[in-house]
Amino acid sequence: MLGNKLRRSREPWWERALVTGASTGIGRAMAVQLAAAGVDLVLVARSGDRLEELAAELRAAGGQLDVEVVEADLCDPEGLAAVEKRVEAEEAPVDLVVNNAGLGYEGPFYDQDGAEVAETIGVNVVALTRLTHAALRTMADRGRGQVILVSSMASLQGMPMTAVYSATKAFITSLGEALYEEHKGTGVTVTTVLPGLTRTEFHQRGRWNLDGWPSVGWQSAEAVASEALRAASRARPEVVTGRHNKVLALLSSKSPRGLRRSIIGWAARRN
Ligand SMILES: NC(=O)c1ccc[n+]([C@@H]2O[C@H](COP(=O)([O-])OP(=O)(O)OC[C@H]3O[C@@H](n4cnc5c(N)ncnc54)[C@H](OP(=O)(O)O)[C@@H]3O)[C@@H](O)[C@H]2O)c1
Repeated sequence: MLGNKLRRSREPWWERALVTGASTGIGRAMAVQLAAAGVDLVLVARSGDRLEELAAELRAAGGQLDVEVVEADLCDPEGLAAVEKRVEAEEAPVDLVVNNAGLGYEGPFYDQDGAEVAETIGVNVVALTRLTHAALRTMADRGRGQVILVSSMASLQGMPMTAVYSATKAFITSLGEALYEEHKGTGVTVTTVLPGLTRTEFHQRGRWNLDGWPSVGWQSAEAVASEALRAASRARPEVVTGRHNKVLALLSSKSPRGLRRSIIGWAARRN
Protein backbone atom coordinates (compact mmCIF):
# COMPACT_ATOMS: atom_id res chain seq x y z
CA MET A 1 0.00 0.00 0.00
CA LEU A 2 2.79 2.40 0.87
CA GLY A 3 4.42 1.50 -2.42
CA ASN A 4 1.41 3.07 -4.13
CA LYS A 5 1.47 6.09 -1.87
CA LEU A 6 5.14 6.67 -2.59
CA ARG A 7 4.60 6.20 -6.30
CA ARG A 8 1.98 8.96 -6.16
CA SER A 9 4.29 11.33 -4.26
CA ARG A 10 5.54 14.41 -6.05
CA GLU A 11 9.16 14.21 -4.99
CA PRO A 12 12.32 12.60 -6.32
CA TRP A 13 12.33 8.92 -6.71
CA TRP A 14 14.93 6.94 -4.74
CA GLU A 15 16.80 4.19 -6.51
CA ARG A 16 18.69 2.77 -3.56
CA ALA A 17 18.22 3.34 0.17
CA LEU A 18 20.56 2.44 3.02
CA VAL A 19 18.64 1.78 6.24
CA THR A 20 20.40 1.42 9.59
CA GLY A 21 18.68 -0.69 12.22
CA ALA A 22 16.83 -2.62 9.51
CA SER A 23 16.76 -5.90 11.44
CA THR A 24 13.62 -5.04 13.42
CA GLY A 25 11.10 -2.36 14.40
CA ILE A 26 10.80 0.91 12.51
CA GLY A 27 13.87 0.29 10.33
CA ARG A 28 12.58 -3.09 9.20
CA ALA A 29 9.17 -1.59 8.42
CA MET A 30 10.84 1.15 6.35
CA ALA A 31 12.86 -1.45 4.43
CA VAL A 32 9.71 -3.46 3.68
CA GLN A 33 7.84 -0.37 2.49
CA LEU A 34 10.75 0.87 0.37
CA ALA A 35 11.06 -2.57 -1.21
CA ALA A 36 7.32 -2.54 -1.98
CA ALA A 37 7.91 0.76 -3.77
CA GLY A 38 10.68 -0.82 -5.88
CA VAL A 39 13.65 0.82 -4.12
CA ASP A 40 16.86 -1.25 -3.95
CA LEU A 41 18.22 -1.62 -0.44
CA VAL A 42 21.32 -1.77 1.73
CA LEU A 43 20.30 -3.20 5.11
CA VAL A 44 22.50 -2.44 8.13
CA ALA A 45 22.43 -3.88 11.68
CA ARG A 46 24.38 -6.24 13.92
CA SER A 47 22.01 -9.20 13.50
CA GLY A 48 23.24 -10.54 10.17
CA ASP A 49 20.89 -13.53 10.35
CA ARG A 50 17.82 -11.34 10.69
CA LEU A 51 19.00 -9.12 7.85
CA GLU A 52 19.66 -12.10 5.57
CA GLU A 53 16.21 -13.47 6.34
CA LEU A 54 14.61 -10.12 5.54
CA ALA A 55 16.70 -9.73 2.38
CA ALA A 56 15.59 -13.16 1.15
CA GLU A 57 11.96 -12.28 1.86
CA LEU A 58 12.23 -8.96 0.00
CA ARG A 59 14.05 -10.47 -2.98
CA ALA A 60 11.42 -13.21 -3.22
CA ALA A 61 8.62 -10.64 -3.16
CA GLY A 62 10.30 -7.95 -5.23
CA GLY A 63 11.42 -9.60 -8.46
CA GLN A 64 14.34 -7.50 -9.69
CA LEU A 65 15.05 -5.96 -6.29
CA ASP A 66 18.72 -5.65 -5.34
CA VAL A 67 19.15 -6.11 -1.57
CA GLU A 68 22.57 -5.95 0.11
CA VAL A 69 23.29 -6.83 3.70
CA VAL A 70 25.94 -5.06 5.76
CA GLU A 71 26.34 -6.70 9.17
CA ALA A 72 27.95 -4.02 11.31
CA ASP A 73 28.07 -2.74 14.87
CA LEU A 74 27.81 1.03 14.60
CA CYS A 75 29.63 1.37 17.94
CA ASP A 76 32.63 -0.45 16.56
CA PRO A 77 35.06 1.80 14.61
CA GLU A 78 35.56 -0.86 11.92
CA GLY A 79 31.83 -1.51 11.57
CA LEU A 80 31.08 2.21 11.32
CA ALA A 81 33.86 2.75 8.78
CA ALA A 82 32.47 -0.06 6.60
CA VAL A 83 29.01 1.53 6.57
CA GLU A 84 30.51 5.00 5.87
CA LYS A 85 32.37 3.51 2.93
CA ARG A 86 29.15 2.00 1.57
CA VAL A 87 27.35 5.34 1.92
CA GLU A 88 30.11 7.07 -0.08
CA ALA A 89 30.51 4.36 -2.75
CA GLU A 90 30.22 5.52 -6.36
CA GLU A 91 29.19 2.08 -7.54
CA ALA A 92 25.50 1.34 -6.96
CA PRO A 93 25.12 4.74 -5.26
CA VAL A 94 22.77 5.26 -2.36
CA ASP A 95 20.41 8.22 -2.77
CA LEU A 96 18.47 7.82 0.49
CA VAL A 97 20.19 7.24 3.84
CA VAL A 98 17.90 6.38 6.74
CA ASN A 99 19.65 6.89 10.07
CA ASN A 100 17.26 4.85 12.14
CA ALA A 101 19.38 2.59 14.41
CA GLY A 102 19.03 3.80 17.96
CA LEU A 103 18.62 2.76 21.57
CA GLY A 104 18.11 4.11 25.04
CA TYR A 105 18.26 2.69 28.54
CA GLU A 106 15.89 3.70 31.32
CA GLY A 107 16.98 4.42 34.86
CA PRO A 108 18.50 7.14 37.05
CA PHE A 109 21.57 8.65 35.38
CA TYR A 110 23.88 8.02 38.36
CA ASP A 111 22.97 4.35 38.29
CA GLN A 112 23.49 3.76 34.56
CA ASP A 113 26.18 1.48 33.28
CA GLY A 114 29.01 3.55 31.76
CA ALA A 115 29.33 1.23 28.78
CA GLU A 116 25.60 1.57 28.05
CA VAL A 117 25.84 5.37 28.24
CA ALA A 118 28.71 5.25 25.74
CA GLU A 119 26.77 2.80 23.50
CA THR A 120 23.75 5.14 23.45
CA ILE A 121 25.86 8.15 22.49
CA GLY A 122 27.91 6.01 20.10
CA VAL A 123 24.93 4.84 18.04
CA ASN A 124 22.48 7.74 18.43
CA VAL A 125 25.00 10.59 18.09
CA VAL A 126 28.44 9.55 16.81
CA ALA A 127 27.39 6.98 14.20
CA LEU A 128 24.38 9.01 13.07
CA THR A 129 26.50 12.15 12.66
CA ARG A 130 29.29 10.38 10.78
CA LEU A 131 26.91 8.59 8.42
CA THR A 132 25.00 11.83 7.82
CA HIS A 133 28.31 13.60 7.12
CA ALA A 134 29.37 10.88 4.69
CA ALA A 135 25.97 10.98 2.98
CA LEU A 136 25.72 14.75 2.63
CA ARG A 137 29.30 15.13 1.42
CA THR A 138 28.63 12.58 -1.30
CA MET A 139 25.15 13.84 -2.15
CA ALA A 140 26.27 17.49 -2.30
CA ASP A 141 28.73 16.52 -5.06
CA ARG A 142 25.94 14.78 -6.96
CA GLY A 143 23.42 17.57 -6.30
CA ARG A 144 20.83 15.01 -5.29
CA GLY A 145 19.94 12.82 -2.32
CA GLN A 146 17.99 12.57 0.90
CA VAL A 147 18.74 11.76 4.50
CA ILE A 148 16.22 10.73 7.15
CA LEU A 149 17.15 11.16 10.80
CA VAL A 150 15.00 9.19 13.23
CA SER A 151 14.76 11.30 16.38
CA SER A 152 11.97 11.09 18.96
CA MET A 153 9.30 13.05 20.81
CA ALA A 154 11.79 12.68 23.69
CA SER A 155 13.92 15.27 21.89
CA LEU A 156 11.43 18.01 22.76
CA GLN A 157 12.14 17.88 26.48
CA GLY A 158 14.87 16.66 28.83
CA MET A 159 13.37 13.43 30.19
CA PRO A 160 14.24 12.35 33.75
CA MET A 161 15.05 8.61 33.92
CA THR A 162 16.01 8.55 30.25
CA ALA A 163 18.24 11.62 30.40
CA VAL A 164 20.99 10.38 28.08
CA TYR A 165 18.52 9.05 25.52
CA SER A 166 16.50 12.27 25.38
CA ALA A 167 19.70 14.34 25.18
CA THR A 168 20.92 12.28 22.20
CA LYS A 169 17.56 12.77 20.50
CA ALA A 170 17.64 16.54 21.17
CA PHE A 171 21.01 16.52 19.39
CA ILE A 172 19.44 14.74 16.38
CA THR A 173 16.47 17.11 16.11
CA SER A 174 18.77 20.12 16.33
CA LEU A 175 21.21 18.67 13.79
CA GLY A 176 18.41 17.85 11.36
CA GLU A 177 16.87 21.30 11.61
CA ALA A 178 20.18 23.01 10.86
CA LEU A 179 21.13 20.66 8.02
CA TYR A 180 17.75 21.05 6.31
CA GLU A 181 18.34 24.80 6.09
CA GLU A 182 22.00 24.41 5.07
CA HIS A 183 20.98 22.31 2.07
CA LYS A 184 17.94 24.27 0.91
CA GLY A 185 17.97 24.69 -2.85
CA THR A 186 20.77 22.17 -3.40
CA GLY A 187 18.70 19.12 -4.36
CA VAL A 188 19.66 17.48 -1.08
CA THR A 189 17.21 17.31 1.84
CA VAL A 190 17.25 16.18 5.44
CA THR A 191 14.01 15.06 7.11
CA THR A 192 13.86 14.57 10.87
CA VAL A 193 11.26 12.13 12.20
CA LEU A 194 9.85 12.40 15.71
CA PRO A 195 7.95 9.24 16.66
CA GLY A 196 6.32 8.81 20.03
CA LEU A 197 5.61 5.50 21.71
CA THR A 198 5.94 2.78 19.08
CA ARG A 199 5.44 -0.97 19.51
CA THR A 200 8.88 -2.46 18.78
CA GLU A 201 11.65 -4.23 20.73
CA PHE A 202 13.01 -0.84 21.81
CA HIS A 203 11.60 -0.66 25.35
CA GLN A 204 12.42 -4.25 26.21
CA ARG A 205 16.00 -3.82 24.99
CA GLY A 206 16.42 -0.65 27.03
CA ARG A 207 14.78 -2.20 30.14
CA TRP A 208 12.07 0.45 30.25
CA ASN A 209 9.43 -0.06 32.92
CA LEU A 210 6.21 0.73 31.09
CA ASP A 211 3.95 0.44 34.16
CA GLY A 212 2.16 3.73 34.49
CA TRP A 213 2.89 4.74 30.89
CA PRO A 214 -0.13 5.79 28.84
CA SER A 215 -1.87 3.00 26.96
CA VAL A 216 -3.17 5.40 24.31
CA GLY A 217 -1.23 7.02 21.51
CA TRP A 218 0.98 4.05 20.66
CA GLN A 219 1.76 3.55 16.99
CA SER A 220 2.84 0.53 15.01
CA ALA A 221 6.29 0.51 13.40
CA GLU A 222 4.54 0.34 10.02
CA ALA A 223 2.55 3.53 10.68
CA VAL A 224 5.69 5.41 11.78
CA ALA A 225 7.65 4.15 8.77
CA SER A 226 4.91 5.16 6.38
CA GLU A 227 4.65 8.72 7.76
CA ALA A 228 8.43 9.09 7.78
CA LEU A 229 8.85 8.00 4.17
CA ARG A 230 5.97 10.14 2.98
CA ALA A 231 7.45 13.21 4.71
CA ALA A 232 10.86 12.54 3.17
CA SER A 233 9.37 11.97 -0.28
CA ARG A 234 7.83 15.43 0.05
CA ALA A 235 11.15 16.88 1.24
CA ARG A 236 9.65 17.99 4.57
CA PRO A 237 12.09 19.23 7.23
CA GLU A 238 10.37 17.44 10.10
CA VAL A 239 7.50 15.12 10.89
CA VAL A 240 5.95 14.28 14.24
CA THR A 241 4.25 10.95 13.60
CA GLY A 242 0.74 10.16 14.82
CA ARG A 243 -2.15 12.50 15.60
CA HIS A 244 -1.73 12.08 19.36
CA ASN A 245 1.96 13.05 19.19
CA LYS A 246 1.22 16.04 16.94
CA VAL A 247 -1.14 17.41 19.62
CA LEU A 248 1.43 16.78 22.37
CA ALA A 249 4.17 18.47 20.32
CA LEU A 250 1.95 21.49 19.73
CA LEU A 251 1.06 21.76 23.44
CA SER A 252 4.73 21.37 24.31
CA SER A 253 5.73 24.19 21.94
CA LYS A 254 3.11 26.51 23.49
CA SER A 255 3.89 25.85 27.15
CA PRO A 256 6.61 27.58 29.19
CA ARG A 257 9.77 25.48 29.54
CA GLY A 258 9.70 25.59 33.37
CA LEU A 259 6.12 24.33 33.46
CA ARG A 260 6.94 21.50 31.06
CA ARG A 261 9.96 20.52 33.11
CA SER A 262 7.94 20.48 36.36
CA ILE A 263 5.14 18.36 34.88
CA ILE A 264 7.53 15.82 33.39
CA GLY A 265 9.63 15.73 36.57
CA TRP A 266 6.51 15.16 38.67
CA ALA A 267 5.33 12.36 36.36
CA ALA A 268 8.76 10.69 36.45
CA ARG A 269 8.98 10.84 40.27
CA ARG A 270 5.46 9.48 40.57
CA ASN A 271 6.41 6.55 38.38
N1 LIG B 1 9.97 2.45 19.83
C1 LIG B 1 9.72 3.68 20.24
O1 LIG B 1 8.82 3.91 21.08
C2 LIG B 1 10.49 4.85 19.65
C3 LIG B 1 10.03 6.14 19.91
C4 LIG B 1 10.70 7.21 19.38
C5 LIG B 1 11.83 7.02 18.63
N2 LIG B 1 12.29 5.76 18.38
C6 LIG B 1 13.52 5.61 17.60
O2 LIG B 1 13.28 4.80 16.47
C7 LIG B 1 14.51 4.17 16.07
C8 LIG B 1 14.25 2.69 15.84
O3 LIG B 1 13.86 2.12 17.07
P1 LIG B 1 12.83 0.91 17.18
O4 LIG B 1 11.73 1.36 18.04
O5 LIG B 1 12.56 0.33 15.88
O6 LIG B 1 13.74 -0.04 18.10
P2 LIG B 1 14.23 -1.56 17.96
O7 LIG B 1 13.07 -2.42 17.56
O8 LIG B 1 14.94 -1.85 19.22
O9 LIG B 1 15.27 -1.52 16.74
C9 LIG B 1 16.52 -0.88 16.88
C10 LIG B 1 17.37 -1.18 15.66
O10 LIG B 1 18.66 -0.55 15.82
C11 LIG B 1 19.68 -1.51 15.59
N3 LIG B 1 20.87 -1.24 16.40
C12 LIG B 1 20.91 -1.03 17.74
N4 LIG B 1 22.19 -0.91 18.15
C13 LIG B 1 22.97 -1.04 17.04
C14 LIG B 1 24.37 -1.02 16.81
N5 LIG B 1 25.26 -0.87 17.81
N6 LIG B 1 24.83 -1.20 15.55
C15 LIG B 1 23.95 -1.40 14.52
N7 LIG B 1 22.61 -1.40 14.68
C16 LIG B 1 22.12 -1.24 15.93
C17 LIG B 1 19.05 -2.85 15.96
O11 LIG B 1 19.65 -3.92 15.25
P3 LIG B 1 20.63 -5.04 15.86
O12 LIG B 1 20.26 -5.28 17.29
O13 LIG B 1 20.41 -6.19 14.95
O14 LIG B 1 21.98 -4.45 15.70
C18 LIG B 1 17.62 -2.66 15.46
O15 LIG B 1 17.54 -2.98 14.09
C19 LIG B 1 15.51 4.47 17.17
O16 LIG B 1 16.37 5.51 16.75
C20 LIG B 1 14.65 4.93 18.34
O17 LIG B 1 15.34 5.82 19.18
C21 LIG B 1 11.64 4.66 18.88
